[in-house]
Amino acid sequence: LIPLAAVALEPFRHTITGDVLDIETAPKEGRDVEAVKKFLETGVNPFNEMKECLPRGEYIYLSSCSGCHGHVAEGKVGPGLNDNYWTYPKNKTDKGLFETIFGGGQGMMGPHNDLQLNELLLVMAWIRHVYTGPVETAKWLTPEQKKNFTPYKLPEGSDHGTIDQAKVAPD
Ligand code: HEM
Ligand code: CA
Repeated sequence: LIPLAAVALEPFRHTITGDVLDIETAPKEGRDVEAVKKFLETGVNPFNEMKECLPRGEYIYLSSCSGCHGHVAEGKVGPGLNDNYWTYPKNKTDKGLFETIFGGGQGMMGPHNDLQLNELLLVMAWIRHVYTGPVETAKWLTPEQKKNFTPYKLPEGSDHGTIDQAKVAPD
């Protein structure tokens, strides 16, 4: 297990209270994933725009988030996550988005520290992928990623996401 206390980044903080979040409350599984270690050091999600991460990210999104945020994050009882308006502007950074998901927000937006840290990064990458707003304001993308990014469009003839859920085995 990696020494989570030894990260160089400013501590993760709860989006509402500002209290330091205890990353140790996350499940032990998934912590040893290289991308998780990197994220905890840098605050940048290495899974962003990695095509191979999207099916599992969508799978997790559909199991844990879409009931409140809509199938492609268009908003439902919870706010849309696919546009460029954020209640909490820090969600434009991967670190801020992680803090909001891991620690929760107001009311119905509870903490999601039951998900593995790698699963959180996967679901975050999916949320970034379904973004429909202007690319210039996608603060989470590198200049190179911005060049290649196209706002998400639903596949022809589908009213929800892209995956065949039965084919995505959560490992
Ligand atoms: C707010 C993500 C699950 C209800 C938010 C925000 C994010 C988010 C990023 C802040 C949006 C902003 O700044 O504009 C997620 C993810 C989920 C999830 C990734 C799954 C892992 C849920 C579920 C519910 C829910 C299951 C309902 C039971 C809400 C509500 C808000 C919210 C009501 C507004 C809270 C506030 O403004 O403080 N969510 N959410 N979310 N979410 Fe979720
Ligand atoms: Ca929004």
